[in-house]
Amino acid sequence: MKLTDNEKREILKLIEAEKPLPDKYRFLLFDDKREVELVWNGKTNEVTNIVLPFQVIEQIDEPRAERQVDTGTQGDLFDFRGRQKAGWTNKLIWGDNKLILSSLKNGPIREEIEKQGGIKLIYIDPPFDVGADFSMDIEIGGSTGSPTETFTKKPNVLEELAYRDTWGKGADSFIAMIFERLLLMRDLLAEDGSIYVHCDYRLNSYMRLILSEIFSEQFYKNELVWQKIRTTKAQSIGFGIVHDSIFFYTKSEKTKFENQYKEFDEDYITSHYKPDASGRLFRTVSLLQRGNGAAKNFNGKILETPAGMHWIWSQERIDEAFKNDLIRFTSNGRPEKVQYLDEMKGDIVDDLWHDIYLINSQAIEALDYPTQKPVALLERIIKASSNENDIVADFFCGSGTTLAVAERLGRKWIGSDLGKFAIHTTRKRMIGVQRGLKADGKDFRAFEILNLGKYERAHYIGVNMNLREEERQKQLLQKEKDFISLILKAYRAEGVENFKCFHGKKAGRLVSVGPINLPVTRLFVEEVILECREKRISRVDILAFEFEMGLFPNIQEEAKAKGIDLALKYIPREVFDKRAVEKNQVVFHDVSYIEVKPLVRAGKKGTLPAIAVELTDFSVYYTQDSVDNAAQTLKDGKNKIVVEQGKIIKVSKDKNGIVTRETLTKK
Ligand SMILES: C[S@@+](CC[C@H](N)C(=O)[O-])C[C@H]1O[C@@H](n2cnc3c(N)ncnc32)[C@H](O)[C@@H]1O
Repeated sequence: MKLTDNEKREILKLIEAEKPLPDKYRFLLFDDKREVELVWNGKTNEVTNIVLPFQVIEQIDEPRAERQVDTGTQGDLFDFRGRQKAGWTNKLIWGDNKLILSSLKNGPIREEIEKQGGIKLIYIDPPFDVGADFSMDIEIGGSTGSPTETFTKKPNVLEELAYRDTWGKGADSFIAMIFERLLLMRDLLAEDGSIYVHCDYRLNSYMRLILSEIFSEQFYKNELVWQKIRTTKAQSIGFGIVHDSIFFYTKSEKTKFENQYKEFDEDYITSHYKPDASGRLFRTVSLLQRGNGAAKNFNGKILETPAGMHWIWSQERIDEAFKNDLIRFTSNGRPEKVQYLDEMKGDIVDDLWHDIYLINSQAIEALDYPTQKPVALLERIIKASSNENDIVADFFCGSGTTLAVAERLGRKWIGSDLGKFAIHTTRKRMIGVQRGLKADGKDFRAFEILNLGKYERAHYIGVNMNLREEERQKQLLQKEKDFISLILKAYRAEGVENFKCFHGKKAGRLVSVGPINLPVTRLFVEEVILECREKRISRVDILAFEFEMGLFPNIQEEAKAKGIDLALKYIPREVFDKRAVEKNQVVFHDVSYIEVKPLVRAGKKGTLPAIAVELTDFSVYYTQDSVDNAAQTLKDGKNKIVVEQGKIIKVSKDKNGIVTRETLTKK
């Protein structure tokens, strides 16, 4: 620290007066000052190291209908149909990537990742367009030539929170959000790994500085300029913006990089190539390069090189080329090599990418995901910076473009996203990729959908690890018992004994409580159905924090066919709020769904198109608030509409506190 006595006195005075220090002290006070650094309010190098358990929501190795047959014809990893049967399972993780990255970095999956050689490539495309991914426009119709109409999907609570985290204080909060995540990604990336970060003009200046700080300017490789828009309208205050930037950094010197090639431009071919006698297109290319070298014999002519240049071929190669007619002389007598177009890989790709088109709604790969990136873009990145079998990761995976390309190119992958819509879109897309690979007779890997354990639940079930094993088991058993009692109390059900799957009863229905830290799976429900059949039980409620994806409505239909009325209900987070339980305010919502089909009819000239939404299926066993609860909480002279078990009921309280209920549903 090189401070004068005057400066020291000034600092002390300012601190005592609780006044901010002038900017110059930032650089004078700290030894590890950097020449250029991006600073923002609240900047810190501290990263979270929280580890939450991952829960498997679903395991997918499509197509499911087939029984896995092991003939061992393709080694130990894949069965004879190409389906993976051992080893690494790809991962699609639902949740905030900060917690995911920290749990991957510090938790047990890290070992699994390292066993595969670590993560060799990360591509991310964070939400740099303020809010675009949280409140999205979904286009409907348009497939049969009719015009499209747009619905706006509102963000859910989780997405809204993330939106506030990311954009709450404008660019500041975005930078803080991405900085911490990039630090975590650097620590997770293999020593010989590469990272590509996609952004646009709004953030590229910040991003370059942040990335150079985290990965070091020494390992900056490129700013790739991707021209995503071909034509632009005239702008009143500047030139049209038609490109995004993708920053490419590596973690060290020793990374894989493979040059990529693109097709030659037609105009380029016409201007540079001509046909030989057989019609084969060729051009001639100089045999000179910078450096010093001796004169060479070109078919009897001894030719010197110009100063500072040398002939790139050896004498043997020159002689061989003459035998094969692969050297021509230019009009001023300089020898050049013949290069045939059909022998070229294409034009080498540089940092200007203008041959990859943005996805439009008509594109075959379009998935109606507003920020979806083209497959060709990811193909180029993945081929350049990874090998087959490497792990490729995208922690802002959106519609899953990176993962789909990685799978098709034989890479392993990890993807994550916060949005439920993104996870559903990616899930569906990856099943399609698996099916496509199978149809082409290629190998494909299984993948699992994971999410992160919830804090409250982990805390609730947590046992004291310092206890002896026997004591620990006892404590765990007690905690599970307490958990069941808590849920039954919140659900206002009575406890029952002597059942395998049932814990309580309420209003003539038996109640089964799912596990605290895992989703209810098909297997769990099948056990419930089995006990129902054995004991002739016909009305059942299953309560759970989560249900395996794709479980309903099929499972309810299956139960119905066996004479069992099965209601699946979500346990709300409020069960952990003692006051809400005491006040009977905890509402268990039914697992409900609707299935709709949009019908778009083209309007006559000059009129708007008509849209109808046909309800094709729905779950009716739906409860929102309960009649009892409404009756208890209503003030005198007021009324409230509740939905209980699919019926719409008006609950009214008169001036004297007398409660009446009127069922408004017709049947
Ligand atoms: C620009 S999109 C990615 C699009 C993707 N490249 C594709 O081709 O479909 C950004 C994604 O990041 C997700 N996201 C935003 N904040 C996140 C967070 N904190 N954790 C995980 N995902 C997040 C959004 O839900 C969105 O799907």
